[in-house]
Amino acid sequence: MPGAEGVLFDRPSVVEALAFPDHPRLALHAGDFFDTMPAADAYVLMHVLHNWDDERTARILATIRKSAAPGATLLVIENVLPDERPTPAALTMDVIMLALTRGRERTEGELSALFDAAGFRFTGMTETSGTMRIAGARAV
Ligand SMILES: C[S@@+](CC[C@H](N)C(=O)[O-])C[C@H]1O[C@@H](n2cnc3c(N)ncnc32)[C@H](O)[C@@H]1O
Repeated sequence: MPGAEGVLFDRPSVVEALAFPDHPRLALHAGDFFDTMPAADAYVLMHVLHNWDDERTARILATIRKSAAPGATLLVIENVLPDERPTPAALTMDVIMLALTRGRERTEGELSALFDAAGFRFTGMTETSGTMRIAGARAV
């Protein structure tokens, strides 16, 4: 979208360490996504939710939903598993996430259920040329 403005949101220690060139349409925002997030028209979470178990993932989504107006877009970019026949590589990644972070890869259905519980509705999956998939949702 031409003229879009972005906010890069991360923990204070990460934001403070960033050597980011100033840009009039990009703001940095330090915070905790278990607490509050700035309001936006669209939220992009790349490789974030798979770091967390279902309870913490639900809390992150709830924080976003609190700041999001109805109709706001949520895009989750990660290795979203198909509901049937996930690849061995994707399943291996699931075990790695469990071992490293107590997180997990999720199927479309599992993500969709978490979206529903947090006040979002799944709107569809966008495939990429790589292993990442983009799950779209809208705040209701
Ligand atoms: C795996 S990294 C993904 C970063 C980036 N999206 C990417 O794809 O390269 C997860 C990010 O979540 C951030 N993070 C972890 N806990 C957080 C919290 N409580 N509040 C805000 N950000 C957090 C980490 O600092 C890290 O930058």
